[in-house]
Amino acid sequence: MIIVTGATGKLGRRTVEHLLERLPTDRVGVSVRDPRKAQDLAERGVRVRQGSFDDPASLVHAFEGAEQLLLVSLDRTGEECVTGHRAAIDAAVKAGAGRILYTSQMGAAQDSRFQACRDHAQTEDLLRATGLPWTALRNGFYAASALQLLESARHTGDIALPADGPVSWTGHDDLAEAAAAILTDEGRFEGPTPPLTGPAALDFDAVAEIAAQATGRPFTRTVVPGEAFRKQALAHGAPAPIADLMLSIFAAARNGEFTAVDPTLAELIGREPATFRTLLEHTWAE
Ligand SMILES: NC(=O)c1ccc[n+]([C@@H]2O[C@H](COP(=O)([O-])OP(=O)(O)OC[C@H]3O[C@@H](n4cnc5c(N)ncnc54)[C@H](OP(=O)(O)O)[C@@H]3O)[C@@H](O)[C@H]2O)c1
Repeated sequence: MIIVTGATGKLGRRTVEHLLERLPTDRVGVSVRDPRKAQDLAERGVRVRQGSFDDPASLVHAFEGAEQLLLVSLDRTGEECVTGHRAAIDAAVKAGAGRILYTSQMGAAQDSRFQACRDHAQTEDLLRATGLPWTALRNGFYAASALQLLESARHTGDIALPADGPVSWTGHDDLAEAAAAILTDEGRFEGPTPPLTGPAALDFDAVAEIAAQATGRPFTRTVVPGEAFRKQALAHGAPAPIADLMLSIFAAARNGEFTAVDPTLAELIGREPATFRTLLEHTWAE
């Protein structure tokens, strides 16, 4: 059985849907914090078990029978994040999982300027130390993250953000489909995959042009000093660690950590990954 964590979240849920297109329902299970949110999956015959990363015993039960486990990374940072991942990896070992797949990120490295990429590198080290077969899906930066950063510009027409660098923004759907493809072709990747990226690396100057073409409205790009951006984020209610985390995305982008464009994602899904323009048009049409 293939078991997916975070299956009530965006990436996990879409991965389950792609798995159900490829496998009989009784080969797919989910480990979710709140089983009520996965009731429709249970009704379709998917094994739904409660599993919280803060309750290791629940995870051992939820991972029972996992030939492969897809561990979807937690939406936390720093020690709190790695502690949760450690609990899940230990539970997978206890449950006898045959292989652990983990949603890492391109640029995962101990010396990354982006905290999340340092957390991913630490988690990959934990996986390496298990002695089990493992695969780290080095996912491209979510285009959804860029679209969140653009939310205010969408209305003002001014992309007022810190100095950045090119990022190969990538769609959730393509990454979910790639995860399902790798899960159903076990052993295709040992350890980290190549970066699974969208088709182009774009800085926010390029994004401004794309936004203008997509909407027919002018978009400007204003570079905001990092400290001013941090203050704005705090004034809008972001906790200081989140403001710092957001700022560190720009530092890592300037450092070229998200610039790679790689054909592996296209090979896995059998088509060109969605362009940033397509994803922007889709989101802004909602
Ligand atoms: N590659 C990138 O660019 C990028 C960008 C941002 C984030 N990420 C990472 O990718 C992950 C998946 O992305 P996403 O868009 O699917 O995020 P998401 O929609 O926020 O999903 C996160 C999932 O984690 C679950 N979760 C949180 N705390 C948990 C706990 N204590 N025990 C069990 N489950 C828990 C959530 O459960 P509920 O449904 O119950 O809330 C949810 O299903 C994120 O969590 C983050 O680590 C990657």
